[in-house]
Amino acid sequence: MATADGVEYVDASKPAQDRMKRYEKFADEIAELIRTGVIAPGEKVPSVRHASRTYGVSPSTVFQAYYLLEDRGLIQARPRSGYFVHALARRQLHEPDIGQYASGSVEVDVSELVFSVLSSLKDPDMVAFGSAFPSPNLFPLARLSRSLANSARDMQPHAVIADMTAGNPDLRRQIALRYMVSGMMLPLEELVITTGAMEALNLCLQTVTQPGDLVAIETPAFYATLQVLERLKLKAVEIPVHPREGIDLDSLADSLQRFPIKACWFMSSLQNPLGASMTDEKKQALYALLKQHQVPMIEDDVYAELYYGSQPPKPVKSFDTEDLVMHCGSFSKCLAPGYRVGWVAAGRFAEQISRLKLMTTISPSVPAQAALADYLQHGGYDRHLRKLRHSLESQQRAMLASAARHFPADTRVTRPNGGYFLWFEFPTRVDSLQLFQHALAQGISLAPGPIFSASRHYGHCARLNYGHPWDTRSEQAMATLGRIIASF
Ligand SMILES: Cc1ncc(COP(=O)(O)O)c(C=O)c1O
Repeated sequence: MATADGVEYVDASKPAQDRMKRYEKFADEIAELIRTGVIAPGEKVPSVRHASRTYGVSPSTVFQAYYLLEDRGLIQARPRSGYFVHALARRQLHEPDIGQYASGSVEVDVSELVFSVLSSLKDPDMVAFGSAFPSPNLFPLARLSRSLANSARDMQPHAVIADMTAGNPDLRRQIALRYMVSGMMLPLEELVITTGAMEALNLCLQTVTQPGDLVAIETPAFYATLQVLERLKLKAVEIPVHPREGIDLDSLADSLQRFPIKACWFMSSLQNPLGASMTDEKKQALYALLKQHQVPMIEDDVYAELYYGSQPPKPVKSFDTEDLVMHCGSFSKCLAPGYRVGWVAAGRFAEQISRLKLMTTISPSVPAQAALADYLQHGGYDRHLRKLRHSLESQQRAMLASAARHFPADTRVTRPNGGYFLWFEFPTRVDSLQLFQHALAQGISLAPGPIFSASRHYGHCARLNYGHPWDTRSEQAMATLGRIIASF
């Protein structure tokens, strides 16, 4: 809605797509014309006066849209001539090939490397391409604080003790309700609230393995998976992941045949770091393999809410007829980082997992659980999620376009349908650990490939986070990375 003073206000009752600011919408329309080749590289985009008249928007809206497109590197200003489409605006990088690194069983020893990378991510002045989180500014922190205050004020004294074991009953109901809406009926007793998904994943693995056992994991895999295996003295059997289609089932079938695998730890949707999501058919086929070998699966699904399509992806748990799947979720990535609240829908393993929890951390913070329960009931969670997904999707477009302009043409990159990571495969001469060190010296973090592999593969790969609003600084950081990569 435009007002007399030219300021455009946003109607919060509308879906996120409708609440985009007018200049963002207009910028997206021009970006689409560039993407589809209607305005070609080197051509002039409509002048501000012309665009304002033709599209019925104010000149200041056109200016703001053009500044945004300039930040995204799609257009360039030429003094006294107007704005022109960037010469590389339509260049696209290719997707990576299927991973080739299946393994026998390997001991895991990556922690030192992972810690040295993680400690570099603490500096708030860094361009946070290496971070595991989206920008905190994309979360409804003020609304959550209100939920924290409301729930703390209303908390019954006995609940502080009672809620520690089973978890806050309202929160468990709200989580079960979300499963129900997605078509899964879960008995409340099967839900265990944990200190983030990380605790859930640890407890699940401890429940079904002994030191020395073999666990099937993905390659590349989330680095904390490797660290947990290392800590619990478990051996990894690495199963390759296709960058778009997910786990290679032939390789998994072969490994299940050859090795006495005690558990699988997989991400079937929006896998970290590749962003791959398996189709429903493939998830069913994966489940059939688990059933045939009676091997339990720990399903890490922390990015479940960050899909870009119209339908949420189904977890493998939704096909589970024999109680083999422990489904782990979290609020860390989509709502409340730092609250440290996650859960596992653990089926028949729930009782054992709860006992292990009582022997270790006892409980996640009771006030944090109560705050989330209040927020889920009254805070507008689905509205927040729609907005968050929309921001992440547009940030992905910006990073992909920027990489195409600044990175060598033979770089490969994933195009995930959700989440906030891109996985880059650089030319093999690039050493991503050295790239990481050079980038840090320039104030840019990234996650180098070898931290995602028990066998230290992916030495020419890196994961970059696009979870922060795209701006001139992001664009400059990509240009700097491009220069470092070209120097190898
Ligand atoms: C794939 C994956 N699983 C689990 C976690 C841990 O989630 P939480 O913060 O809920 O412990 C993360 C966080 O980085 C992650 O990326």
